[in-house]
Amino acid sequence: MAAPAVDAEYLKEIDRARRDLRALISSKNCAPIMLRLAMSTHFTFLPEKTTMQEPLKARHPKITYADLYQLAGVVAVEVTGGPTIDFVPGRKVCLDFRGEGLFSPHICIFLYFHLPFVQDFMDSPEEGRLPDAKQGPSHLREVFYRMGLSDKDIVALSGGHTLGRAHPERSGFEGPWTKDPLKFDNSYFVELLKEESEGLLKLPTDKALVEDPKFRPYVEIYAKDEEAFFADYAASHKKLSELGFTPP
Ligand code: HEM
Repeated sequence: MAAPAVDAEYLKEIDRARRDLRALISSKNCAPIMLRLAMSTHFTFLPEKTTMQEPLKARHPKITYADLYQLAGVVAVEVTGGPTIDFVPGRKVCLDFRGEGLFSPHICIFLYFHLPFVQDFMDSPEEGRLPDAKQGPSHLREVFYRMGLSDKDIVALSGGHTLGRAHPERSGFEGPWTKDPLKFDNSYFVELLKEESEGLLKLPTDKALVEDPKFRPYVEIYAKDEEAFFADYAASHKKLSELGFTPP
């Protein structure tokens, strides 16, 4: 499928969608799921598809799904108090796992990395491509380096877990990473450096960030300096959201 023509009309529609998303995310407190959708999941597996995303697509039919989902991720970070992330529209759509046009190829690959159940919809899943929350630093590097991302990107992007929580029925893990899972701040890193954080979740892949000597310095910087985290997070999020995409 061709890239959309990013003309004045398309940009106006993006502005309208941005306003709709701000209202939707604030009123439904759904920033965590929107960020996770943008980054990692495939919306058709979740009930949010019909209750949240489909009306949006219906209101903004011109905008490609790939643009709409990336815009939702950017707005989710913004409305929960995080950094402003530069958003350039014009993503093509590709065939998703079930043959429907949804995401750019690289986003598809990231989705596939993140969610084990996406595998069910792939024709030929390769062993060892999924990021496994039970693993350590070398596994994280294997997954992220393949996408051209660096150690700094891995640590900064993991800060996305400042929002949301894990659900036992989905991942087998439970609980939020921070005390206020609807606020985008640097508390994920502050909690990570504490020995004990009662009631809060630390996945093995989260712990890997403090245990690995190359990851740890970034954790320490981000725990101390929220502005540094915001600046690096915004750059890494943009990088990830534009993999395989050359802005028109
Ligand atoms: C949730 C693993 C990277 C954003 C989760 C969950 C797991 C997980 C196990 C809980 C799922 C559930 O039970 O509902 C990982 C691993 C990563 C990673 C192993 C590799 C480093 C990222 C990145 C972002 C992100 C890069 C975004 C920048 C989120 C969000 C949630 C989440 C916002 C919460 C969703 C909700 O509240 O429903 N992740 N993740 N994750 N992840 Fe990640």
